[in-house]
This record gives sequence, structure tokens and C-alpha cells, in this order.
Amino acid sequence: MKKILVTGALGQIGSELTVALRQKYGESNVIATDVRPNNKATLANGPFHIADVCNPGTLAEIVNKEKVDTIFHLAAILSARGEKDPQFCWNINMGGLMNILELARTNGVKEVVTPSSMAVWGPNAPQFNTPQESALKPTTMYGVTKVCGERVCDYYVQKYGLDCRGLRYPGIISSETLPGGGTTDYAVEIFYDAVKTHRYSCFLSAESTLPMMYMPDCIHATISLAEAEFKNLKHHSDFNVAAFSFNPKELAEVIKKFMPDFQIEYNPDFRQAIADSWPKSIDDSAAREEWNWKPKYDIETMTKDMLEILTKKHAAGLI
Ligand code: NAD
Ligand code: SER
Repeated sequence: MKKILVTGALGQIGSELTVALRQKYGESNVIATDVRPNNKATLANGPFHIADVCNPGTLAEIVNKEKVDTIFHLAAILSARGEKDPQFCWNINMGGLMNILELARTNGVKEVVTPSSMAVWGPNAPQFNTPQESALKPTTMYGVTKVCGERVCDYYVQKYGLDCRGLRYPGIISSETLPGGGTTDYAVEIFYDAVKTHRYSCFLSAESTLPMMYMPDCIHATISLAEAEFKNLKHHSDFNVAAFSFNPKELAEVIKKFMPDFQIEYNPDFRQAIADSWPKSIDDSAAREEWNWKPKYDIETMTKDMLEILTKKHAAGLI
């Protein structure tokens, strides 16, 4: 049985990935960590430790004591927060990743899974069906750390034989935990405001098309890549993954099918420039070929599910 450590476990993805990993591998075999105290009842049934990825002593103690063999490293600063404090973004994203890779290399950890992002691309990359292999010239510090992160993970594969794997997630949409400071956050916030007030003020313009994915597909992709046979992988830390693309106007039209009086207005802010630098759709054929990636949700089924879950939470006074 695997013994897993998750960093950034309280975040948008970590809070759901940790639960899915515990269902699969057993509650006591998945150790959740984050820089802040656990505020989630859903994570109360398994081990949790406060641990800063920039101060790896605590993580080293856990890895050795618990004989951890797999790390899912999710702790990071996302694009919008990163543009407000680029040096902080570099320190957490690159400093934290280097600490995790060295911890793994020197303590017998077999596998490190860490997400990359569509933020690796900049305005010079092809905007539609962006290929697996295309110029990586991001214009955000977050994107710079994701390109460097992919390169350093592949270096550890090649130099030390450490099994590192990663996916370039698009924007992730979910109903359990609000996102932590990205440019695609609007596609989650819109659902919370829809169920609460039937209105949303969007920080991107109506025509800002971006690639997106629903959380159940994100969890499925992450665990599928983690479990794929290493010998079948030609890529390691930089798999394109995609599900569907839309712009705020198109998403609002789908929400209106379920909530006819829903209204949206557009007030673009600094995040517009970040969105404009990213692709509109992504070619994920390498992931499909190498580990059978295939998403289940489209914009309609995702929207229906999000509205049903959040409407129930709102009625129960949880949001
Ligand atoms: P998030 O911001 O929701 O969560 C990150 C977590 O890391 C938070 O709980 C935070 O407390 C924790 N953290 C921050 N600094 C830390 C530190 N120094 N030590 C330990 N923990 C720390 O992020 P997320 O959306 O869950 O993203 C997880 C990963 O997926 C990141 O690598 C991110 O770049 C990547 N990703 C996310 C998306 C998305 O849409 N959510 C898209 C592409 C890539
Ligand atoms: N959702 C992320 C962000 O907007 C993309 O990596 O920062």
C-alpha cells in the first residue's frame, strides 16, 4: 500500500484530491499538510500536519517517520496573487518545489506528482489547440515558475531517476473549496454568486475564452497519471490536459438555461491581461495516447452539477 504526503492539502484541488486518495489508499495512508491549520471537516478523518514547504524540516520528519513513498506537491501561489507579489510567488513555487525534490531524492521517496498549468504559455504560443511542444514564453511570474518547475522535474527524472510527473491543468471549477487567487477564479465565483443573488460581476471581458475542467475530471486525471506505468510515459512533468473551453458570456448563457433570471455584467481588471496571454484551447493528445486520458464532463453537465450542489449548500446555510 502506498504511503502518501500531500502539500497544499487545504487548497481548491488539495481539499478534494486528499479525500479521493484516502478513499483509494486508506485514510491513515494519506498525510495532509498545509501552511495553515486544518479548517475542513472533510479532512478530519486522517492525519494532518502544519508544514511550510519553504521550511522542509517538518516535512522531512514526516517522510522519515511515516516512510512516505509518494508526494503530491500542490502548495503554490497562483497567477493573480503571483502578479501582486512576484518575488513571493517565485520563493514559494520554486523554493518549495526544490525542497520537495531534494527531500524526495535524499529520503527514498519513489514518486513526486506536481501540477503545472496552462500558464506556461505566453502570447506568442498558438492560441487554438496549443500543441504539447510549443514555445514556453509566459508573461506572468506564476507562468515562469511553472516552466522552471517542469524543467527541474524533468531534470530530476533524467539526472537522478526520480519518478516525477505533472499535468498542465487548465482552469479548475469546483464546489468544495473556493480558488486561491488565480485568473480562472471567475468560473467558480460565478456559480456562488448565481445561487446567492442570481447576478455576477465578472472581472474578465465577455469574450475571454479559456480552457477549463471540472474537478472530478481533474482528480481523475491526476490519479490516472500518478498510477500510469512509468515505462509507458514519453513525457513526465508537462502533460497537456484539456476538457472544454468557454468565455464568460457563453458560461452565463448555459447558467441561464437552469436559472432564466441570471444576469452578468463585465468589469475587467488586471487579470484581463493574464487571461489574454493564455491559450483558448489545448491539444492533449499526448496524455490521451500515453495514459488514456479522457474527460467525462462538458460545460452543460458541469454547470448542472455545480448549480445543484451549491443550491443545496446555500439552502443549508453553508455558503
Ligand atoms: P490553492 O491556492 O487553492 O491552494 C494552495 C494551498 O497551498 C493553500 O491551501 C495554501 O495554504 C497552501 N500553501 C501556500 N503556501 C504554502 C507553503 N509555503 N507551504 C505549504 N503550503 C502552502 O491552489 P490550487 O488551486 O489547489 O492549486 C494546486 C496546484 O495546482 C498548484 O500547483 C497550482 O499551480 C496548480 N493549478 C491549479 C489550477 C486551478 O485552476 N486551481 C490550474 C492550474 C494549475
Ligand atoms: N487557474 C490557474 C490560475 O488562474 C491557472 O493555473 O492561476
